[in-house]
Amino acid sequence: MSLRGISKRFGAVQALTDVELDVYPGEVVALVGDNGAGKSTFVKILAGVYTPDEGVVTFDGRNVTIPSPSAARNLGISSVFQDLALADNLDVVANLFLGREVVHGVMDEEEMERRSWELLRQLSARIPSVRIPIASLSGGQRQTVAIARSLIGEPKVVILDEPTAALGVAQTAEVLNLVERLRERGLGVILISHNLADVQAVADRVAVLRLGRNNGTFRMKDVTYEQIIAAITGATDNAVTRRASARTPKEPTE
Ligand SMILES: Nc1ncnc2c1ncn2[C@@H]1O[C@H](COP(=O)(O)OP(=O)(O)O)[C@@H](O)[C@H]1O
Ligand SMILES: [Mg+2]
Repeated sequence: MSLRGISKRFGAVQALTDVELDVYPGEVVALVGDNGAGKSTFVKILAGVYTPDEGVVTFDGRNVTIPSPSAARNLGISSVFQDLALADNLDVVANLFLGREVVHGVMDEEEMERRSWELLRQLSARIPSVRIPIASLSGGQRQTVAIARSLIGEPKVVILDEPTAALGVAQTAEVLNLVERLRERGLGVILISHNLADVQAVADRVAVLRLGRNNGTFRMKDVTYEQIIAAITGATDNAVTRRASARTPKEPTE
């Protein structure tokens, strides 16, 4: 998926100006930036929540528009926002299939349960039971269920907005493992995170937003922690290197 020239204004606030981003199959791209940099606005455009004022989105080489969340899902773009939108009183199976129940005349509970275990197994996820309410799971397990649910529609791109923000060390490690499983499945992953250690642990590339503009896109192996911080804070904002680095994406893996 490629985005070019994305701009978005809310009244007097220019939230995004001429932003570009690519994500390839089997790649994790981290999107970082200070509060108010435009990260959430940008991914909400991808998720069909907001429509950009300007810009072009191409998906699988075709120009597309994403006028609604269901349009995003139909294209194969799935998102897990910070609130997770899980139903606390329902069990894991019910949450995974919420709104997508497998129906063979009647709702096929056995089939949904079988597919739930299969999905969690593929993700190497540690969930004690798929028949317990979401309310009794840990924060990391809830995040796992939300990510697993995002895979039900067989997406090609998954957007994760701050998936480790509320988690402890061990749970964070589990979620980062999960991100690696998504990459192994050939998905493109866009990971928003405030935690640069997480970003350095799993991302292939990192794109920095600052004040609603691109301020550097780097391959993770070519960039230091200090360089990322400098791009986030604006200590470096050389427009020439910014454009040069933004135009050396990873080769497609397919
Ligand atoms: N719905 C909205 N209405 C008005 N302004 C908004 C809205 N959403 C975001 N903004 C503004 O757009 C800018 C970017 O915000 P946001 O995308 O939430 O940044 P981030 O997620 O990087 O913290 C901020 O100045 C924010 O106040
Ligand atoms: Mg945000």
